Amino acid sequence: MNTYDLIMKKRNGLALTEEEIVYIVNGYTNGKIPDYQMSAFLMAVYFQGMNYEETTFLTMAMADSGDRLDLSGIKGIKVDKHSTGGVGDKTSLIVGPILASLDVPVAKMSGRGLGHTGGTIDKLEGIPGFQTSISEEQFVAQVNDIRLSIVGQTANLAPADKLIYALRDVTATVDNVSLIAASIMSKKLAAGADAIVLDVKVGTGAFMKTVDDAKLLAKTMVAIGTKAGRQTIAVITDMNEPLGNAVGNILEVKEAVECLRGQGEERLLKVSKILSCYMLMAAGKAEDLEEAEQLVENAIQSGAAFQKMKEFVGAQGGNPEYIEHLEKFERAKYSVAVSGRDLMEQTDACKNLETAYLAACNNQEIGMVSLTLGGGRETKESVIDLTVGIQLGKHLGDCIKEDDCVAILYGNDKQRLANAKERFLNAYSLSPNKIEKNPIIYEVITENDL
Ligand code: URA
Repeated sequence: MNTYDLIMKKRNGLALTEEEIVYIVNGYTNGKIPDYQMSAFLMAVYFQGMNYEETTFLTMAMADSGDRLDLSGIKGIKVDKHSTGGVGDKTSLIVGPILASLDVPVAKMSGRGLGHTGGTIDKLEGIPGFQTSISEEQFVAQVNDIRLSIVGQTANLAPADKLIYALRDVTATVDNVSLIAASIMSKKLAAGADAIVLDVKVGTGAFMKTVDDAKLLAKTMVAIGTKAGRQTIAVITDMNEPLGNAVGNILEVKEAVECLRGQGEERLLKVSKILSCYMLMAAGKAEDLEEAEQLVENAIQSGAAFQKMKEFVGAQGGNPEYIEHLEKFERAKYSVAVSGRDLMEQTDACKNLETAYLAACNNQEIGMVSLTLGGGRETKESVIDLTVGIQLGKHLGDCIKEDDCVAILYGNDKQRLANAKERFLNAYSLSPNKIEKNPIIYEVITENDL
C-alpha cells in the first residue's frame, strides 16, 4: 500500500477499505505521511466525500490512535455532551451543574476555542484559580464525589484528530460532514462515556449552514455512536446569531451562572434545558421529556444547580466566591455601545426610520469581532484576553428603536474596540418590515430516525 495510490483512489471518487483508512490515519499520526500528502488526501475527501462505512472506519481509526479513557471507576451511566461549535455557546457550563445536581455523573473533556468559535476550557480559565488540567485519578474521584468534572483533553486522547484538525484548519477542509463527524465522534468514543448527546449547530455561525446539512451530520454521528454501542442523540439548534447575550470568556461564565439562577436569556435557557433533558433520559433518570423537564426546572428553581456550580468550581481549585458575587470578576478597561441609530445608518432602507427590525446576522463575523477584541486565537499559540467580548441587548426579529442599546463591546485597546465596532455593524442587517424569529430547536435525531 502507498499513500500516493490512496490519494489517487479517493481523488477518483472510489471508496477506501478499512485497511487503507487505518494506513492513512496511522501513517499521518506517526509522522510517516507528510503534511502535503495528508492535505491532498483531505482535499480529495472534501470533494469526493466518504460513504457511511468509510466515515465509520475513519472515526474508529482516529479513536484508536491514542488512549481510550477508562471511566468504569465512576458509578452510574456516564453521559457526555458535545457541541459542533458556535458563538456564545456556553451550554456545557449550564448543563454540567444541572445534571450533576440530579445525580447524573458528568465526566467531560472539553476543548479550547479556535477561529471564530469559543471553547469551554478557555471560559473556565476565566474563573480565578480554576484548574483545567488534573490527573485522571483526580478526575474520576471528583466525578464520583460531586458528579461533575470538566477538564481539557489529554494529549493522547485521539491524537490523530488533533493533528488532522490542525491541518484541516489551514487547508480549508473543516466543513465536510465525514471529517467533522469523525473528528467529534473519535474524541467522544475515546473519552469513554456510556451515552452521548450532541448539539448540532446550524446557521451563519456554524460549520453547517443549512438544516439539511446539519441533519446529515447529526444522522452520521448518531449512526456511528449507535454502532459503537453508545446511546447517541443529536439536537439540531440555531446558530444564526450568538446563543444568549454574551460572547467572550468571562462574560459567558457570568451569563451561565445567571442561567443557573433561572435568570438567563430565553433561547440559551431553552437549548440548555433540552440538552439536559435528553442527557437525563439517556442516563435513565427520566422516563420521558415531560418528567425530564420537571426535574430540570426543579434543579434550577431550587438553587441545586447553582450550588453544584459553586461546588464544582471549588473542587477544581477555583474561587466559588466569584460565582456567588459575579461583580468580583475582572472587567475590560473600555467599552463602546452600539445603538439602534448606529445600525440604521448602515442600511439605506432604514436610514430615515425611527424603528426597524434586526433581520440577519453574519454570526461567524460576530465570532471574529470577539477575536478582534483579543478574546479568540488567531493561531494556536495566541494568548487570549479573557475579559473582552460582546454583550448583546437585542436579537434577530427584535424591533429596534434609535436609542436602543443593541450591544456593548468590551476591550482593553481603544483602536481594537473601534475596529470591532465597525466589524460588528457590518455583521448585522436591518429590515423596515417585521421579521419572523428563527426557531431555536429544529429537530432531535435518535437511532429511530436512521
Ligand atoms: N468540532 C470538532 O471537534 N471537530 C470538527 O471537525 C468540527 C467541530
